Order: sequence, then structure tokens, then C-alpha cells
Amino acid sequence: MALRSPNLNVMVSAARMAAKGLIRDFGELENLQVSRKGPSDFVTVADTRAEQILKAELSRARPDYSFLMEESGAQDGADKTRRWIVDPLDGTLNFMHGIPHFAISIALEEKGEITAGVVYNPVTDDLYTAEKGGGAYHNDRRLRVAARTNFAESVFATGIPFQGRPGHREFLMRLARVMSVSAGVRRFGVASLDLAFVAAGRMDGYWEETLQPWDVAAGILLVREAGGYVTTVQGTGNPVATGSVAAANAALHPQLLKVLKIDEGGAA
Ligand code: IPD
Ligand code: CA
Ligand code: CA
Repeated sequence: MALRSPNLNVMVSAARMAAKGLIRDFGELENLQVSRKGPSDFVTVADTRAEQILKAELSRARPDYSFLMEESGAQDGADKTRRWIVDPLDGTLNFMHGIPHFAISIALEEKGEITAGVVYNPVTDDLYTAEKGGGAYHNDRRLRVAARTNFAESVFATGIPFQGRPGHREFLMRLARVMSVSAGVRRFGVASLDLAFVAAGRMDGYWEETLQPWDVAAGILLVREAGGYVTTVQGTGNPVATGSVAAANAALHPQLLKVLKIDEGGAA
């Protein structure tokens, strides 16, 4: 059983608290599918409400810490060296479409380093936690990335850029390369859970670009604490800050970077 630090306990209980509202709102959605306006306004309300609960719970326990939250942005506390990086609802589109695959993602950054992470799927009650140097856990089970070394037998998760996002052409070039030399590619629609799946050894690897810190901060720690490697797709720079992520085990990670290498803006 994982021995959780006081900060991780605060994160887990905040996530569980906000999850109750998300589950209730997810259930309500079924009644809204038929309304003419569609569920998108309702989802925005659910999202904002979850963020408010997380903010209230986290600041009640740690009044001095700063915040970086998807909906309300950056907010400095008295302690600027510690901040919570929060996505109250990762997988909005799944939520909106009644697909029970979405998560609350909370990371703690201390002096620029991610030291704790929680990714929680409220519907399935799957709780993924990690602390720097303390390992990664799924509920109470210690996680280890997959042991597979053969790229051709490996399965990769990814995220597809959509309307309004850049990099469609580069994504298609990379997808064409990965799909032709791997066992398969999956698109689940929740970056934090994609990383949790890599940490849990369900996926052999994952890549995506143009993400935000709140999508990946907690998930990256999960993968690293499960023995995996995470860099940007290009191999240089900070994946949390740049939102470019390539994750896999030690054997597959260099292979993945090689397969993903394209002359950006030019030919594969
Ligand atoms: C999105 C999800 C998705 C990823 C998108 C993100 P949101 O977050 O993580 O998997 O592909 O890039 O924006 O908007 O549902 O919180
Ligand atoms: Ca997100
Ligand atoms: Ca979100």
C-alpha cells in the first residue's frame, strides 16, 4: 500500500470531492442530449463548478500555495515556489458525448519541479497517484511501465489536433509513420489518462503536441515514477512547459523519437 504524504492526501481528497459533482452532472447530461442548445453550456458549468471545488479544497488545506488552473488561470499565493496545476475536467468532449472516460488532474509543482500528481477517473473510480521518488500507484497497486521492447508489437496512444489547433499536417505525417511500424494507435481523448495508461503498462507509449501544463503535469510524473521516460516529441525542452510529449519505456522511447522525427514543415 502506498504511503501518501500529507500533500498527496490533500490532492486525493480534493479530487474525490470534486468528482461527486462531475458524476452527478454526467448523469444529468443524458436528459440534456435532446435539448436544442445541446449540452455544451451545461458542460462548461460542470467544468467551472469542479474547478471551484478543487480550488476551495486545495486552498483550505494549503492557504499559501499558488495556482495554475485551466479555467481561472494563474494565481499567485503568498508562496510562489509551490503551485497546484489543475485540470478540473480533462476529456471535455468525452464528457459531453456521454463517454465515461474523463479525469480530474492535479499536480503539485515545487520550485519548478513536479513533486506529486493525481489523475482520477470519477466514473470508474480509477485513482492514479505518484510522488517524486515514491513510485506511481493505481489505487493501491504499484505501477510499472510495459516491458515490451519490440516496436512492431507495441501499441501507442496519441491525441489528434482538432479545429483551431495547429500542426494537422505534421500530426498526419507522424501518424503515418507510427501506424506503419507499430501494432496499433489509439485515441482516447484524455491526455492525463493516456499518460496514466503508459504508467500502468496498458499502452506502450504515447505522443501528443500542443498540450497545456494542466493536461500533462500529473501524468508525466506517473510515467517517470513507473520507470518510463518522457521528453518532448523533438527530444529537447521541457514537456510540461512546451506541451509536447513523447512517453515510453527505456527501450521504446528512443525508437519512438526516431519514428516521430520529421522535418517539421517539410517532408517526412
Ligand atoms: C484535452 C484532452 C485531449 C487532448 C486535448 C486536450 P480538455 O483536454 O486532454 O485528450 O487531445 O489536446 O485539450 O480540453 O478536454 O480538458
Ligand atoms: Ca485537458
Ligand atoms: Ca479541461
